[in-house]
Amino acid sequence: MREIENIVILTGAGISAESGLATFRGPDGLWEGHRVEDICTPQALARDPVLVQTFYDARRAALATVEPNAAHRALAKLDAEWPGELLIVTQNVDDLHERAGASRMLHMHGELKSALCRRCGGRSAWEATLIDGPTCPECASSGGLRPDIVFFGEMPYQMERIETALEDADLFVSIGTSGAVYPAAGFVQTARHYGARTLELNLDPSAGSHFFHETRIGPAGELVPAWVAEILS
Ligand code: APR
Repeated sequence: MREIENIVILTGAGISAESGLATFRGPDGLWEGHRVEDICTPQALARDPVLVQTFYDARRAALATVEPNAAHRALAKLDAEWPGELLIVTQNVDDLHERAGASRMLHMHGELKSALCRRCGGRSAWEATLIDGPTCPECASSGGLRPDIVFFGEMPYQMERIETALEDADLFVSIGTSGAVYPAAGFVQTARHYGARTLELNLDPSAGSHFFHETRIGPAGELVPAWVAEILS
């Protein structure tokens, strides 16, 4: 196996589950009482802005009530100590990776603590609510701000940067994601195509488990610190 220099890590809702944040396709198949396909779409925002804005305001407010867990902290430690290239690509819109100290990372599906202006396209850090139609810090228009979340049918962020990282990766690790949503679910195949070793850490086998050289089953809070200790030794 070639020397491991460059690592790409994909994380999903499962890495934040032990912090108390709901996954998208839990046992009841709902995300906080809604099918994610019904609430995470431009059509839903247009059809029922109060429902969608209130839903995301509640998700944003909930961030203050949760903390990063051992898995987030272990990845932040790896980020700080890994001498080669490292990129954490998270599908999550929470801020737990950042709060644990990760810096070489990106949110491919956007983030709760950011607002997107439909008038000027500007994105601004945002902690408060959006339901009351505040003015955009960039263009000063009012009523145009929406959650800076990539809805179904919209283009994920920084795909070029992700593709390049996958091409250069020697190791691709997928943590806490069901492999239900593309393009993220296809990253393992891209990484393999370019010769990377692939590892999945998940509570249950994901839809794409068969693409991985190795799958470890268990909670991220246990598997991730153990894997980080292994790779840093
Ligand atoms: N430790 C590790 N894995 C876990 C844990 C845990 N404690 N708890 C749950 N999981 C796993 C589940 O087994 C499942 O495979 O995390 C995964 C969560 O899957 P989803 O709820 O589908 O979340 P995710 O894969 O992140 O969804 C991808 O879909 O809804 C869109 O944009 C949204 O980013 C999201 C994308």
